[in-house]
Amino acid sequence: MKILAIYGSSRKNRNTDKFLDIFLKKFNYENEDINKIILEDLKFSHCISCYGCARVGKCVLKDDLTDIYSLIEESDIIVFSSPVYFNSVSAISKAFIDRMQVYWSRKFLLKVDGPKEKFGIALINGGSSTEKHQFLGSELVFDHFFKSTNCKKNLILEVSETDKYPINEDNKSFMEFLDSIEINKNEKEIYRLKEGKIEKCKLIE
Ligand SMILES: Cc1cc2nc3c(=O)[nH]c(=O)nc-3n(C[C@H](O)[C@H](O)[C@H](O)COP(=O)(O)O)c2cc1C
Repeated sequence: MKILAIYGSSRKNRNTDKFLDIFLKKFNYENEDINKIILEDLKFSHCISCYGCARVGKCVLKDDLTDIYSLIEESDIIVFSSPVYFNSVSAISKAFIDRMQVYWSRKFLLKVDGPKEKFGIALINGGSSTEKHQFLGSELVFDHFFKSTNCKKNLILEVSETDKYPINEDNKSFMEFLDSIEINKNEKEIYRLKEGKIEKCKLIE
């Protein structure tokens, strides 16, 4: 099984990285054929809306993402970790996701095949405890990411209050949250840890 793990924070070894590292360990993905990409370490442009992809079916920008597209296409599972910034994903994660426009162009404009069907996992953490719709923006962004990359079934895990209770293996609520998760590759599911409670949620209709 090929796994692509995407680190979407600019801060190294903090909540977003730890969420992904602990998740990969807990669900034994570390023992699979895994590629890890740290977006902060890559040099890539945001999508410039040139619509080159709508002509040739490939992103025409040449940068560090050029070689990443094949990793996306070949993977069986994508696990993507991002912090919440301004009620959405981080800017660097969003810049990466916008570059998936190539798959949207392939599917809807050129009507050719996209990436093979795969399972998507989004790990989202937000520092705040009070925001009612803290994860909604990120859920919608990841939903579109999953559609573009053909992650028909997917799982979103959300953890709040990470500024107060940082993610690490000593964080009891966080570890209990992971313990409560059973990965079902035939479903689309969202689980949230907020104010110490684990909730099963639905994407807004
Ligand atoms: C620019 C910026 C915007 C943020 N916006 C939000 C927000 O809208 N909601 C929230 O819950 N936390 C917000 N946070 C807090 C981060 O989600 C939180 O600190 C997260 O754990 C950071 O991940 P990291 O430790 O991997 O950097 C923001 C942080 C920054 C730097």
